[in-house]
Amino acid sequence: MKICKTIHETRDYLSNIRKSGKTIGFVPTMGALHAGHISLLTASSLKDDFVATSIFVNPIQFNNKGDLEKYPRTLEDDIRKLEDMGCDMLFNPDVSEMYPEPVVDKYNFGQLDKVLEGKHRPGHFNGVAVVVRKLFEIIQPHRAYFGMKDYQQLRIIQAMTRELAMPVEIIPCPTKREKDGLAMSSRNVRLTNEERKIAPVIYRVLTGAKERARQMSVMDIEQWAIHQLNNYDELDVEYFEIVNADTLLRPNNWKDANSMIACTAVHLGKVRLIDNLILF
Ligand code: PAJ
Repeated sequence: MKICKTIHETRDYLSNIRKSGKTIGFVPTMGALHAGHISLLTASSLKDDFVATSIFVNPIQFNNKGDLEKYPRTLEDDIRKLEDMGCDMLFNPDVSEMYPEPVVDKYNFGQLDKVLEGKHRPGHFNGVAVVVRKLFEIIQPHRAYFGMKDYQQLRIIQAMTRELAMPVEIIPCPTKREKDGLAMSSRNVRLTNEERKIAPVIYRVLTGAKERARQMSVMDIEQWAIHQLNNYDELDVEYFEIVNADTLLRPNNWKDANSMIACTAVHLGKVRLIDNLILF
């Protein structure tokens, strides 16, 4: 696997790949790779001739300094996993390479970045949009793969690429889960053994919400779900909301959208976990 630290080297290397007529698939990550990330790379390897990834812990998308400092960094392990799965190239820049100047770009995604994670993590999606746009400009992929685990991020990237007419196809990929339903996340390693045993309740409650969709009112399901989760002393629900899967707007009733999704953020001990499930 080719490893590039600089933008210049990456551009040079990829321009030859492009000239040879190969299609380039791209999976941006922040490292601490797990089977969820690998599933995106595998999806790319099935469609694209050349699979590129990036590992960059993007400081400007962390609105909490402690979270940035504690973010797991496991580069050697990550490289081994990438080589095992047959990834062709890794772009692994330093912060000074990505941000030689102070970042001033401000995006407005209307409703999309004001709700859910956007409401609770101010500035987060602006930081994501800045880095993903820059990564797209460096890599210039034909396709880029994003996990439904971060559903709002996926919707915002889709909106950005449409708005800016970027020549990249965004491919959504399903959430990879542990056997007990817990969504795979780089943050899961920070859970204690006790917390890890409780964590699957998040997916069970999401599944319960899906079973109740259209049977109970939207608000009653949200309240039911919050109650189920907060029943555990160790859990603290930040939000549990059912929204239109396209606009992320809150519906008044089940007829308001063709597709709805339940999204939640939960604090479990010192770790903040997010998950979601398409209801229909
Ligand atoms: P990161 O959290 O490392 O995730 C990288 C990609 O892996 C994202 O598209 C995310 O949705 C996907 N992913 C994470 N867990 C997953 C799971 N359990 N199943 C399927 N896909 C999963 O998301 C980011 O990094 C950053 O915001 C980034 C886009 C790289 C910009 O900095």
